[in-house]
Amino acid sequence: MMIIAIDGTLASGKGTLAKRLAAHFGVPHMDTGALYRATGVAATIAGVDLTDEEACAEIAAKLDLTLYPDADLRTAEAGQSASKVAALSKVRQALFELQRSFAGQKGGAVLDGRDIGTVVCPEADVKFWVDASVEERARRRCMELEKAGKPISLEQMIAELRERDIRDKTREVAPMKPAEDALQLDTTQMGPDDVFETALNFALKKGFVA
Ligand code: DC
Repeated sequence: MMIIAIDGTLASGKGTLAKRLAAHFGVPHMDTGALYRATGVAATIAGVDLTDEEACAEIAAKLDLTLYPDADLRTAEAGQSASKVAALSKVRQALFELQRSFAGQKGGAVLDGRDIGTVVCPEADVKFWVDASVEERARRRCMELEKAGKPISLEQMIAELRERDIRDKTREVAPMKPAEDALQLDTTQMGPDDVFETALNFALKKGFVA
């Protein structure tokens, strides 16, 4: 059983890479950011303060992901609330078990997030760190939101990404950072196919088998 851990910044292309690698090897994929987004959305709906650690952790522990359509989780507000609840240690603990049991599946798995290679699956056989310039990431995210009918300006997106990056990198628990043994991919000048080919070659070289 082998695990591929993919970490990196928002809109760096890590989700696309994760989906493609999972499809290629025929293994399940978990977008762990969706767990934090769903926790943030559920807490907001319940009127819970996003700094109330106990209450947010209780929501995370009881999370039913089927209740939240992807479109509701991809909004800028959901991203901001995700980033806030992700800083709470008890929320991370509650979601840790969920991620570990997913990673423990017989045929292997691909997980993407911020701390997969460092905290959730430090034993992963293949690790990637995916990043790109903030301007390029903002451009990609704006295009996605425009397609979804929720356009926001490029300037606003750059400001939001900067704020999110700082919060994710500087939090005390499981801060976002590359694992020492991760292959670092800067996708600023790379298309999705280049990213996939490079990552696939690395995984094959590491002997990844599903
Ligand atoms: O990848 P994303 O944008 O969907 O993640 C949403 C937020 O959740 C992000 O601000 C960081 C946090 N997150 C985390 O702390 N750990 C993970 N494994 C995944 C996401």
